[in-house]
Amino acid sequence: MKKTILITGGAGFIGSHVVRLFVNKYSDYNIVNLDKLTYAGNLENLSDVENADNYIFEKGDIVDKDFINSLFEKYDFDGVVHLAAESHVDRSITNPMEFIMTNVVGTVNLLNAAKNHWKANEEGKLFYHVSTDEVYGSLGNTGLFLETTSYDPQSPYSSSKASSDHFVRAYGNTYGMPYVISNCSNNYGPNQFPEKLLPLFINNIKTSKPLPVYGDGLFTRDWLYVVDHARAIDIIYHNGRNTETYNIGGFNEWTNIDLIKIMCKQMDEFLGNTEGTAEGLITYVKDRPGHDKRYAIDATKLKNELGWEPSLQFEEGLSKTIKWYLDNEEWMNNVTSGDYQKYYSEQYG
Ligand code: NAD
Ligand code: DAU
Repeated sequence: MKKTILITGGAGFIGSHVVRLFVNKYSDYNIVNLDKLTYAGNLENLSDVENADNYIFEKGDIVDKDFINSLFEKYDFDGVVHLAAESHVDRSITNPMEFIMTNVVGTVNLLNAAKNHWKANEEGKLFYHVSTDEVYGSLGNTGLFLETTSYDPQSPYSSSKASSDHFVRAYGNTYGMPYVISNCSNNYGPNQFPEKLLPLFINNIKTSKPLPVYGDGLFTRDWLYVVDHARAIDIIYHNGRNTETYNIGGFNEWTNIDLIKIMCKQMDEFLGNTEGTAEGLITYVKDRPGHDKRYAIDATKLKNELGWEPSLQFEEGLSKTIKWYLDNEEWMNNVTSGDYQKYYSEQYG
């Protein structure tokens, strides 16, 4: 019997890489991609697998509980890999309720549907919740987030993700829901919506627009190539222990300004511009309210227990990423038309 796996948010940035990996690697699985196709969801991200025999797309909203229940009736899922979310911190600051609805209520709807269709502790079933390192809050100059670090979310986005993590654990504890959770650091790579730092800045350099650096630019993030995140999700889905949490990170910390300078240098090379052209676009702007100072993940548990490690050096990943955006001009033009312009002028003036 073929297994049927529900992947939510599969038309988004990370979700599309997870869908591609599962569809190509597991011909014995049926992969159902459920996505609302918000501004961040884009079926173009999956054009290479859309005709695969083991792939089905369902358009729908995880906030709609009747629809979610009907989907579980229709497909009798063996597992869920839950990525659908509102994912951008700046948008959570202007519209927190959207984040509560999708990230909290949507997750609970999925948990309820799984609870209603699966037996407690049922063998072979799994609810995999994809979360973020932002639930742990902000670090000082030293230290790393461990799986045991206390939750201390600081933004409406991270609070909604923390809440959803708590609900997943509560359903495991109360109803015997088989689950795993992973908390990952900042992803970069192809197909990321250009509201996030890297694709936004790549596109702005290409179009000679200012690069809006928040505050003093000395905020630190731990960057991981998106395909390595998808690989980690595959490994954890298949080999992770029930009710465990795994941190996923790149062992790759950068201050924003150092990262931006490396990106600028590579962009000048790619575009054949004189060195320093892109850096000249750097513009310091008002800081993000409540901006978390530093995130850094200790992914030793995942490495020691399940043998996962990032596969790419950062400079190589960055160069592949820049090349992808420059080669996929039509993708960028499509996602930056319409509503994007409105978002951009509201966010950056
Ligand atoms: P994204 O914003 O690129 O994609 C989110 C996807 O979810 C989109 O396709 C969107 O259409 C869909 N979606 C949104 N609301 C929905 C709803 N109500 N019903 C159904 N579908 C809906 O996000 P991403 O960056 O790919 O992040 C995916 C997941 O990984 C999120 O849960 C996020 O919290 C988590 N995460 C992201 C990062 C990162 O660096 N991007 C790091 C760690 C964890
Ligand atoms: O840590 C994981 C998280 O990483 C994910 O859970 C989130 O979904 C994802 O969006 C990301 O959150 P960040 O807030 O860290 O990512 P963002 O790309 O928005 O910003 C990265 C850093 O760059 C952050 O310190 C803010 C800064 N920044 C961002 C933008 C968009 C700027 O200086 N200027 C900008 O215009």
